[in-house]
Formats: sequence, C-alpha cells, structure tokens
Amino acid sequence: MPVSAVITTKSTETNQDLIIQSPPSGLSLSGTITVPGDKSISHRALMLGAIATGETRIQGLLLGEDPRSTAGCFQGMGAEISPLNTELVTVQGIGLGNLQEPNDILNAGNSGTTLRLMLGLLASHPGRFFSVTGDSSLRSRPMSRVVKPLQEMGAHIWGRNGNSLAPLAVQGSVLKPTHYHSPIASAQVKSCILLAGLMVEGETTVTEPALSRDHSERMLKAFGAKIRINPETNSATVIGPAQLSGQTVIVPGDISSAAFWLVAGAIVPDSQLLIENVGVNPTRTGILEALEMMGADIVRENEREVAGEPVADLRVRHSQLKGCTIAGDLIPRLIDEIPILAVAAVFAQGTTIIRDAAELRVKESDRIAVMASQLNRMGAKATELPDGLEIIGGTPLTGSEVESHADHRIAMSLAVAALNASGTSTIHGAEAAAISYPDFTTTLAKVCHP
Ligand code: S3P
Repeated sequence: MPVSAVITTKSTETNQDLIIQSPPSGLSLSGTITVPGDKSISHRALMLGAIATGETRIQGLLLGEDPRSTAGCFQGMGAEISPLNTELVTVQGIGLGNLQEPNDILNAGNSGTTLRLMLGLLASHPGRFFSVTGDSSLRSRPMSRVVKPLQEMGAHIWGRNGNSLAPLAVQGSVLKPTHYHSPIASAQVKSCILLAGLMVEGETTVTEPALSRDHSERMLKAFGAKIRINPETNSATVIGPAQLSGQTVIVPGDISSAAFWLVAGAIVPDSQLLIENVGVNPTRTGILEALEMMGADIVRENEREVAGEPVADLRVRHSQLKGCTIAGDLIPRLIDEIPILAVAAVFAQGTTIIRDAAELRVKESDRIAVMASQLNRMGAKATELPDGLEIIGGTPLTGSEVESHADHRIAMSLAVAALNASGTSTIHGAEAAAISYPDFTTTLAKVCHP
C-alpha cells in the first residue's frame, strides 16, 4: 500500500514489509514530530498505579505493545485499567501486597522491562503462586540477573536452565533486606530489587557500576515511597514497608523514539525536524552527547520540567558527521540508541568505535550481530566487536532487502539507513516497530519528501 510517494507497505496478517524508494536526487525530511510516550515511564506508571492505593491517572502513556503487555499482566492480578486507547488511562490501584493470584500464566510478550520488574513484585507476595512467560525472544533472554539477587533476599523462583529462562514459576514469600552490588548497570535489575524492597521491613539498596535510568526512583518517590539516593556510589535505597498512593503521571515523549528522527535529520541532506515534548532526563541523554560529539546540529528548545521529569523540544538540522568513540559510563545512558547510532556512524567521516556494550547481545535481538550484518548488506563497513561495533563511515549505501529480526529498534534503524541509501530498500519484519512506536511508518511518510 503506498503511504506516500516514497514509502510503501506490504502486509500479511502477521508481517509487514516497509519499502523505501529513494529517488536519484535523494530525499529530504522536514516537519514537526511528536513522539509517543516514554516506554520506561509508561511501564512504571502502570505498575505503580496497580500497586498503589487509589486512582492513578496517566497522560501520554505509550499505546505500544510493550505497555499493553504490562497492563495485561496487572489486570490478570486484579488491577482495573481503562482501555489503552485514549489520551488518558486510569488505573484503580489495589494496594501494596494485594496482587491476586492470577488464574492463568502472566504473559510479558516481548517486554524485558515487564518481566524483570514484575518479578520483584511477585516474589514479595507471600503465599501466592505466579507463572510468567513471554514471546520467543523474551524466553531466550537472561533472567538470572534478577532471579539471583531475589533469591538472596529469600525468593522462590524456578525455571529452565538453572532458573534463568522464562517460563518461570514464582512462589511469593516474605523477603529480607539486601544491599545488592549489581555487576551490570541495568535499570531493570535496579528497579526489580527496589520494587521487591517495597514490602520488605528495612532498607533495600542497589549499587550499580554506572548510573542507569532513574525513572523508578523518581516515580516511587512521587507515589510516596521513602527513597534515598547516593550519587557518589550510584546507589538507590528503598525503606520499607512503603505506602504508595495513586498519582497523576504525565509521560513525556520517548527520547529513544526521538533518536530515530535525530539521526535521520542529521544524516539526510537538506533536512530539518523539530521533535516536540521529548523527555531529557540526564540518565537518558547520552544520545544527545554522542551525536554532539559526532558534530550533529541539535538544539534544545523550550526546556521545562513536567511532573518530575525534564522535557525539551529538539531541533535537528543536517550536518556532516564525524566518527567518534562511544564507551564507558556513557553506554547505559544510550543503550537503546546504539542501533540508530550505528546508522549515524555509517554516514560519518572516519571510524566510529562502540565499546562496553556487550549488553546489546541480550536485548530483543543480538543487536551487535544484527546491525553489523544488516548494514553490511546495504554496503556499510561494520565489524562486530565482542562488546560493540567498529564502523568505517563514508561508504554510500545501496538499497537492499534487510531483516528486523523481530526487533523494533532494528526495524526503525534500518528504515532510517534506507532513507540515505540509493534506490529501493525493503525492511522485512517492520511490524516490530509497534512494540514502542506504532505510528512510526505514518510519521515517516509525513516528514519524508522526494
Ligand atoms: C529499561 C532498561 C534498559 C533498556 C530497556 C528499558 C527500563 O534495559 O534497555 O529498553 O525501562 O528499565 P537494562 O536495564 O537491561 O539495561
């Protein structure tokens, strides 16, 4: 189906091909974009709303498949959540400790955040039994990173491969406080343990090697939990048992979704885009710093704070990018943006090196292997490193057939690469974008001009 002069989709019941035809004179991008609600904040708003007392009102919730998985799980445990199809979603909380034993398996779909955060809550519900699963991608992702620290707190969790793979069975119990030193900077691990600590008498602390996104800490505080942060040691403490009361949450636009437009606007000649209402929490703005290091022309406008989260409009104009090295503490602050940064690197002059990002191998797909193989199909020079990528920029791309590997961020990153490739590109499995960005193709057609 033609969506615009250059964007076409071809759909079966379950799969969609996204076809991008770049005319010989190339494309340009212009317009104003509002990106969907932040995925991380959306999950947390639904979860905290479900376990708080009273009503939670959520404005701007991401209406993507991942938050739908979270909503489905918590509805299965007794929370009343209004349909996820409006600007305002309401959650009638059932109160901390009151999640009901579901009469079926809880299905987290494709969402690691749903499964890992939820495990902390389930494990701390004494006397109740839960079973949890997900799609084939999620069933292959490591759960030991949360199962082990929960077991140290006294949790009872069983599953395949030494209790590390879903489906998992959880027998809730009274947990004891812990100080967990996580070997990885992971907001999912941190949040799981803090959520488990809500019902624990005393202090539950997580220390991480570098600071990961802090949405849980901010939102727990807003819902009334006692939270202590030590920025010097990257530690967060919850003092339990907590009392949570329903709140109004305003979800800002997702910087991880804005990243596709930031890179598209930067690499496609004659482009200028304004992306409005983007969350710019400092634990998430690594993408802005990386693109600035590469010489991108990005301006933050109208900076403000909305319901405890910093927000800005982002204006991007095309500019010639240059290669750089992205590593260390910056990685957790842009972990989800590395696939699209790899696309920026392909069009940058010189070499870009991405290191310390081995976590990418256990995301929705092995994002290191998939990005290297798919970009190389288009003519890029990308080499896999054990913990990242080396990309020699400046080789023109040729339109090709590429695969999303059922990974939303890969599908959208390859679409952006195709904007700057000559001729026709087909992205197979483009329906994956609906996990975090249901309107991606429509917006692409709107801002993309021959
Ligand atoms: C998320 C944390 C990150 C990120 C994921 C969302 C969250 O995962 O990649 O998309 O909402 O807490 P890790 O905690 O595994 O790094």
